[in-house]
Amino acid sequence: MKILITAGPTREYIDPVRFLSNRSSGKMGFAIAEAAVARGHEVTLISGPVLLGTPPEVTRIDVESAEEMLAAVRRELSGNDALVMCAAVSDFRPRIQACHKLKKSAMPPVIELIGNPDILQCVKPQKSGRIFVGFAAETDNIHVEAERKLHEKGLDLIVANDIKEPDAGFEADTNRVILVYPDREPEPLPLMTKFDLGGKLIEFIELKAEKSHTN
Ligand code: C5P
Repeated sequence: MKILITAGPTREYIDPVRFLSNRSSGKMGFAIAEAAVARGHEVTLISGPVLLGTPPEVTRIDVESAEEMLAAVRRELSGNDALVMCAAVSDFRPRIQACHKLKKSAMPPVIELIGNPDILQCVKPQKSGRIFVGFAAETDNIHVEAERKLHEKGLDLIVANDIKEPDAGFEADTNRVILVYPDREPEPLPLMTKFDLGGKLIEFIELKAEKSHTN
C-alpha cells in the first residue's frame, strides 16, 4: 500500500525569528513510517521541524506551518491509500506575521491569533475509499474527547493518549494509548515502543483495506 504519514509540530511565525509551536518531537510519526516500510509499504512522510533523520526508503517532505502541511497533504493524498495524521498541528497562528524581525520595543504585549485550518476536516471530502487514522493527545476526559474527534473528523481509528503520563506522549520512545474505533469498543494497549505501536496501526490499515476489498 501507499501510506501518507504526517509527523512533528508546526511552526507559526510571529516574525522571521520568533514562532509559536508545541512539544511534539516527531518520534511517533517517524516510528510509524519505519514500521510501515518494515511491513513492505511505500511511505511518504510530511514532517514539521524535528531533529530526526529520515528513515531508509521513506520519501520525506519538510514543511513548517499548518498551512504548508495542509497544502502538502492535499497534494499527496490522491496518490495514497491511507493517511495517518500524527502531526501536532498548531491550532492557531498569529494574525499578523511580520516579514522582518520586530524590535523589542515594537513587540505588541498581546499577540492576536487566528485559527488554522483543520487538515483532516479539509481533506475529508477526498477520503472516498482511503483509510484515515488520527491522534488525540489529551490531559482530561480522554475517551469523550477522542470519540468526539473520531466522529467530527470522519476517522477509521483515533489513537488517544494521556500526555500527563511520563512514559507516554511527546519526547518518549514509548507510548501507552487507547485505540478508539467508530464501530467497536475502545482497545486500551499496554506500554509499548513507538515502533511497535506503529506496527499495530499499520496492521489495522492492512486489515481494513483487505476487508473493504472483499466487501
Ligand atoms: O483537534 P486535535 O488537534 O486534538 O485533533 C488531533 C488530530 O487532528 C490529529 O490527528 C491531528 O494531526 C489532526 N489535526 C489536523 N489539523 C489541525 C489540528 C489537528 O488535521 N489543524
